[in-house]
Amino acid sequence: MDNNVETVFTYRSYSLRDTELLAAELAGAATAGMVIGLDGDLGAGKTAFSQGFARHLGVQGIVNSPTFTIIKEYEGRLPLYHMDVYRISLEEADELGLDEYFFGQGVCLVEWSSIIAELMPPRHLHIYIETAGAEERLITVKAAGEPYGGLCRALTEKWGIQE
Ligand SMILES: Nc1ncnc2c1ncn2[C@@H]1O[C@H](COP(=O)(O)OP(=O)(O)OP(=O)(O)O)[C@@H](O)[C@H]1O
Ligand SMILES: [Mg+2]
Repeated sequence: MDNNVETVFTYRSYSLRDTELLAAELAGAATAGMVIGLDGDLGAGKTAFSQGFARHLGVQGIVNSPTFTIIKEYEGRLPLYHMDVYRISLEEADELGLDEYFFGQGVCLVEWSSIIAELMPPRHLHIYIETAGAEERLITVKAAGEPYGGLCRALTEKWGIQE
């Protein structure tokens, strides 16, 4: 499989619950070493997605925004590393040694991943959440490499293209 092939799935969310449904689907498909970057404006729903993902990965208790802690670790079916790099620079992120998480045995969710685009592993899933109304969101899921391309194709088969 060509690593550079990008596969895109678009999903129209009309409520927090819709966003959680997508998060649940991806959490169900999660395997060790999965990396998901999340972008979108303030309040778009990156943390809401992460909370749904965590719950469906079997994480017990409350998952908060890690804005001030940068990385929070949880234990679910797999370890979950929830990161938010909004408040740090590329240089600071570089010093955190993120590869240990990216190429580890857990799942990584990275809020504001575009800030550290250069540090993201070549293979990952990127989710962009665009606010389209009070509760409406256009969610674009883009695969960089496998197995993420297959995941996007499975999502398209399940839900179709929602423009
Ligand atoms: N369709 C939707 N999907 C996700 N969140 C929604 C939706 N509709 C309403 N919301 C609400 O939008 C808010 C999203 O906030 P959240 O903290 O997840 O955003 P964020 O992208 O993480 O922002 P920040 O960049 O500040 O961390 C929540 O209050 C959530 O309940
Ligand atoms: Mg957030």
